[in-house]
Amino acid sequence: KVSSLWGGRFASGPAEAMARLSLSTHFDWRLAPYDIAGSRAHARVLKSAGLLTDEELSGMIKALDELEADVASGEFTPVLEDEDVHTALERGLIDRAGPELGGKLRAGRSRNDQVATLFRMWLRDAARRVSAGVLDVVDALAAQSATHMGAVMPGRTHLQSAQPVLLAHHLLAHAQSLLRDVDRLRDWDKRAALSPYGSGALAGSSLGLDPAAVAADLGFDGPVENSIDGTASRDFAAEIAFVLSMIGVNLSRIAEEVIIWTTAEFRFAVLDDAWATGSSIMPQKKNPDVAELARGKSGRLIGNLTGLLATLKAQPLAYNRDLQEDKEPLFDSVEQLELLLPAFAGMVATLRFDTDRMAALAPAGFTLATDIAEWLVRQGVPFRVAHEAAGSCVRAAESRGVGLEDLSDEEFAGISPALTPDVRTVLTVEGSIASRNAHGGTAPDRVSEQLDRLVARARTA
Ligand code: ARG
Repeated sequence: KVSSLWGGRFASGPAEAMARLSLSTHFDWRLAPYDIAGSRAHARVLKSAGLLTDEELSGMIKALDELEADVASGEFTPVLEDEDVHTALERGLIDRAGPELGGKLRAGRSRNDQVATLFRMWLRDAARRVSAGVLDVVDALAAQSATHMGAVMPGRTHLQSAQPVLLAHHLLAHAQSLLRDVDRLRDWDKRAALSPYGSGALAGSSLGLDPAAVAADLGFDGPVENSIDGTASRDFAAEIAFVLSMIGVNLSRIAEEVIIWTTAEFRFAVLDDAWATGSSIMPQKKNPDVAELARGKSGRLIGNLTGLLATLKAQPLAYNRDLQEDKEPLFDSVEQLELLLPAFAGMVATLRFDTDRMAALAPAGFTLATDIAEWLVRQGVPFRVAHEAAGSCVRAAESRGVGLEDLSDEEFAGISPALTPDVRTVLTVEGSIASRNAHGGTAPDRVSEQLDRLVARARTA
C-alpha cells in the first residue's frame, strides 16, 4: 500500500524494514491530544482564509471532537501503516469526516511545522508538572530547615571538616539551587512560547493562513519569526533537556549526602522505613534506594541531553528526519523526573536527623581554627600571621590529641602573645556560627531570614 500522505509520486509502498525504521507512533502518540488541538486551530484559520465554509468548519470540528474522544478512550489507535502520530490522526479524521472534507485539512501545513509546534506544547505542559514536583522537594527542604533551626553540623569542603554551620543553612543551600531550576524552567518558557505552526515544510504558507491566530488559539505568545528556524531548530528541546539534567544533578548532590549521612560511620540521619528498602539476604540492611536511583537517573538525564545535542550537531537547515530523534530523550527525561520527584520529596520530608551527633561532631577536626585566625585579625594581627598562629594551635592540639578549646592559656600565649585567654569566646560552635552574621551567612538570624525569603519565592514560583 502506498502511503496516504505522500503516495502520489510513488509506484509502490515502503519496504517493510523501511516502514519499521520510520515508525514513531510508539512514542509520538503522546502528542495526539496536541495534534488534534492543532488541527482545530488550523481548521479555523483555513476558514478565516476562505478555504473552508462555515458548514465545512463545523463538520471538521465535529469530526475532530469525535476523534479526540476516540483517542482518549483508546478506541482509536495507530496501526503499522501509520508512520507517525500525524499520519494516524489524518486517517482517523478522514474516517470520521469523509475523504472530501477530511482531505482539506492538510492544506498549508506540513508535519514539519506540526511536530515542532506540538513538541513545544507537550514540553510546556511537562515543564509545569516538573516545576511543581521540584517545588515539592523545595518545600520539604524548607520544612526540615524550619524544624531544625537550632541544629548545628560540621560544614565540609573537600568532604573534610571545615567550619560549623547550621543544618538549616546547609539544607537551604540545596533548596536554593532547586529553586533556580524552577526559575530556569519559567525563563525557558518565554522562548518556547512561540508557535512554528504556519511555517509549512520550511518556507511558510502561501494560502493566507494567519500564524498569529493559530499561535493564540494554542496558547502561545505568538508565532516564530522565521519559518526555517521554526521547523529546523530544536534548541528549545536542548535547553529544557539541560534544565532537566540540572535538576537531576542537583538532586544527585542531595542524594549523595543522604547516602553518606545514613551510613553507620556518619549516623547523621535515618531514613523513614517507607522511603528505604531492605536486602534479600542481609536482614539488618536499610538501603537508601531513592537517593541511589536519583544519583543513577541523573546520569540518564545527562545522557538524554548529550544525545540530543549530538543529534543536532551539524544538521543543515531546514528539517531533516534526524530530528525525529529529538522526542524520546525528552519524553524520557520528563517521565523519569515525574517518577523520581515525588519519592525524593517523600524521602527528604521524612528524614530524621540525629542533631546531637551532628552537634557533637561540629567542632571535630578543628573546625574552629578559622575563628581563632579571625579573632586575631579583630585584635589587629595581620591575617597572614594570624593564619600561621591558628595553624600552630591546631598542630599543638593535634599532637596532644585534644580540641582547640582544651589548649591552656600558657600554650596559647606560647604560640602568640596576642592569643590572650579572651580567644576562648570564639572557641564554641555557637559563637562561631553566630559570628558569621553578614547577609548569606550561617548565623541563625540570617538563616531564618533566608528561609522566609525562600518560602516567599517558592510560593510565587
Ligand atoms: N515524525 C516526524 C518527526 O518526528 C515528523 C514528520 C516529518 N517527516 C517528513 N518526512 N518531513 O520529526
